[in-house]
Amino acid sequence: MTLGQLSDPNAAVPPRDGGEDCPVCQNKRWLLDARGELKPCPRCGVAQHWKQEGLRAFSSRSGVSERQTFTSFKTAFKGVEDENLGNCLEAAEAFADLPDGHWLVMVGARGNGKSHLCAAVDNHLRHAGIASLFITMSDLLGALKDAMDLQANTEQESYSGRLRTFKTAPVLILDDVGAESSSAFSQGILFEIIDYRYRNRLATMIVTNVPFDAFDPRVASRMQDAAFCTVVENLAPDYRKRPVEER
Ligand SMILES: Nc1ncnc2c1ncn2[C@@H]1O[C@H](COP(=O)(O)OP(=O)(O)O)[C@@H](O)[C@H]1O
Ligand SMILES: [Mg+2]
Ligand SMILES: [Zn+2]
Repeated sequence: MTLGQLSDPNAAVPPRDGGEDCPVCQNKRWLLDARGELKPCPRCGVAQHWKQEGLRAFSSRSGVSERQTFTSFKTAFKGVEDENLGNCLEAAEAFADLPDGHWLVMVGARGNGKSHLCAAVDNHLRHAGIASLFITMSDLLGALKDAMDLQANTEQESYSGRLRTFKTAPVLILDDVGAESSSAFSQGILFEIIDYRYRNRLATMIVTNVPFDAFDPRVASRMQDAAFCTVVENLAPDYRKRPVEER
């Protein structure tokens, strides 16, 4: 198979998320209803709720995540619309509205709302009943390292079970990639997850504050496949440094 074939978003390669083949949704696990809203597939998507429950154990959501929505994301300051931030918000909304087979990569400096948009995508998908996992790269690596020391009694406790969870989550929102010191272990894990999700076209949002050339070239090239990957650069300054009256 050539790379061209792999990149064709319309190619009839069903995503392999570990579930059964479904003729209703072609293994997407979701459908758009008559009003154009994202809904779990009526045939196979009933498992989404249980999947979401299973993913919850690994989520990096915190107390503030609930309030970090698209609506609470500001794109105008002192009455002036920030076009770049508007584009970032739009890209995140588009991804959350129809994640199917799409990748969204957001690059940018610290504190300018990237994690906020991760939480907003996660909130939106939860609301729609779609199983998504919002996790930071360091939490993901931590969950795998913990599993090495555990006497695993369940699939969820085992290293291989956890890695499979991260590879096959219907939607993966991976935050702060490249921020952790990139050991051979973390690079290997990142490649394995990215490559699996790339080959199976599983919806993935990746957030990083390091430039593409700091990545393993195999990972960087998959993140920039224009056939199904949107790359946005968040150029906004650190929100925390904005004067309080501006927020
Ligand atoms: N455009 C924005 N509108 C509203 N809140 C924002 C915006 N940008 C950042 N914030 C808030 O500022 C804080 C830092 O943003 P965060 O998303 O964590 O930054 P990072 O890009 O480092 O992930 C969070 O509390 C977040 O909700
Ligand atoms: Mg962040
Ligand atoms: Zn289905």
